[in-house]
Amino acid sequence: MMPVIEPYFVRSARRALPLLPPDLASTARAYLEQEAEHLRQHRLFNRLLTDRYPALRRTERVMGSAYRWLERTRSLEFSCAFAAASETMAYSAARWAAERRSELFRDADEVASTLFLWHLAEEVEHKSAAFEIHRHVTDVENRRARSRLRFAAAMGLALVLVVVFVVWGTTVMLAGERRLHHPVAWIRLLRWSVVFAFELLSNLTVSLLPGFHPDDFVDPMFYQVWLREFDTATSSIPIWADVGDTTA
Ligand SMILES: [Fe+2]
Ligand SMILES: [Fe+2]
Repeated sequence: MMPVIEPYFVRSARRALPLLPPDLASTARAYLEQEAEHLRQHRLFNRLLTDRYPALRRTERVMGSAYRWLERTRSLEFSCAFAAASETMAYSAARWAAERRSELFRDADEVASTLFLWHLAEEVEHKSAAFEIHRHVTDVENRRARSRLRFAAAMGLALVLVVVFVVWGTTVMLAGERRLHHPVAWIRLLRWSVVFAFELLSNLTVSLLPGFHPDDFVDPMFYQVWLREFDTATSSIPIWADVGDTTA
């Protein structure tokens, strides 16, 4: 989903830049630069995926149309709220993956594992940026009750779209691997989904409460250690796991 959803975040943050004070504008610039690099790398990765599973091209096209439609038809305030809610989802995915990294990445391709861990680590790093942008754009508008409703609506829509496209993409790839009728694959996916849903829904609920700020979320220690390893790694593929622990 990254090559289609992240351009939407990048362009929304860019549109908001003229409304932001200088310190927040520099946070927003750093945020959109990180997301722009994520989407570039994931676009390359998706080419490998669509070569292997050609039916994913249709999924990509529909996803692209859905997010472009949102971008065209929704207000800047809604788009910023959508990005802020999506960042809480990305943070939740990062937490969930950190706690299960041994199971998720065991024997996985090292390049793909590195791509995902690098991305998740940066999602934790910028977990508050889109929220700050959203809050500032909303403050300009000065109608708090309405903005909370909009945030909840954007979150609901972001969640529905993610569920629909993740289920679609996963089904296409399972079919491509001839594992569509493989009970173990579905049981494993169901188990991961239920645990992830607890992580995700509790974080999203908390983020709807008055006074919430993403800084209140604890950063998994693993990613800080992993990024440090990544920056100092001399080989092209750094160690993906067994560095640090996830407790913070
Ligand atoms: Fe990202
Ligand atoms: Fe992000």
